[in-house]
Amino acid sequence: MKKRVFSGIQPTGNIHIGNYLSAIKHWVASQPEYDNIFCIVDLHAITVPQDPKVLKAKSLELAALLFAAGIDPQQSVLFVQSHISAHSELAWILNCFIPMGWMQRMTQFKEKAGTQREQVSVGLFDYPALMAADILLYNTDEVPVGEDQKQHVELARDVAQRFNSLYGETFVVPRAVIPPSGARIMGLDDPTSKMSKSETNAGHAINLLDSPDEIRSKVMRATTDSLREIRFDENRPGVNNLLTIYEHFSGLSQSEIEAKFDGKGYADLKRELAEVIVEGLRPLQSRYRELTADPTHLNSLLSEGVSKIRPIAEKTLRLVQDRVGLG
Ligand code: AMP
Ligand code: TRP
Repeated sequence: MKKRVFSGIQPTGNIHIGNYLSAIKHWVASQPEYDNIFCIVDLHAITVPQDPKVLKAKSLELAALLFAAGIDPQQSVLFVQSHISAHSELAWILNCFIPMGWMQRMTQFKEKAGTQREQVSVGLFDYPALMAADILLYNTDEVPVGEDQKQHVELARDVAQRFNSLYGETFVVPRAVIPPSGARIMGLDDPTSKMSKSETNAGHAINLLDSPDEIRSKVMRATTDSLREIRFDENRPGVNNLLTIYEHFSGLSQSEIEAKFDGKGYADLKRELAEVIVEGLRPLQSRYRELTADPTHLNSLLSEGVSKIRPIAEKTLRLVQDRVGLG
């Protein structure tokens, strides 16, 4: 039996090469080994204000991008959270078993709410209960997340254990796995800060759907330094970041790359880098265009996924309802 792995990704912002190199590529590679469920978490997205049209378009765009990147509907399930109502239904029940104190300890809420604590939605506060429902509905063994989401997965564990001890074995107790730190890609405009989906500065990130010209222009404008030598060196974050991106897209080793650029200048490095990114993203972008040209097909891929896993979610929900005396 393969391990069940559940991953959630928000359909907001633009997916960039940092997301691709460190997360999406690993998801794709892990498909033969795990029983993967990938969930586009639109219900989580509405915990902060969203434009309805944009949200819907972004959910479909993300689905197409993930299929284009290699998520294989024969091996894995990729679906949109709001298409299975059991997520909301289980979240409500879990709400009634999560003590306020546990929720008040969640650090991400404190960061996201900032000074607006009285204005943000109850949903933003309750975000971890919905995330626990996502995970627990599918008898998930492992949840790959970044450090920032670990506390939420731990809350899902705690509520599963609490429920099991009150009502008898109901939930599989999941665990968070922090993937080995793959590529950490930094902003092109500021190589001391992580490339981020929410940063809006035009030169900051290379998004997976950027055109070749946009990619070239962003790379050519990337911040470097006033030295000359082209070497992997963490003390020179600009050049180091460009070389790291080059390493991932070219598949060459660090010493091969240093040899290749020996005696060359930053303009040469940037030109070559832009081309490996353009070529590296080309197949993904052309599959993306094919998928989005046929929305009926894209929607049918998503609904086939839903029909595979809805029975699992409903079975868990029925069991939980039965345990607590509902239904
Ligand atoms: P986020 O963009 O924060 O929703 O993250 C989605 C996934 O991409 C997570 O697995 C992150 O660890 C990864 N990720 C986000 N930004 C970067 C980055 N700049 N470099 C490498 N990985 C990243
Ligand atoms: N909160 C996660 C994030 O912002 C997304 C998410 C929602 C998730 N539900 C999940 C991740 C369940 C893993 C499992 O990145």
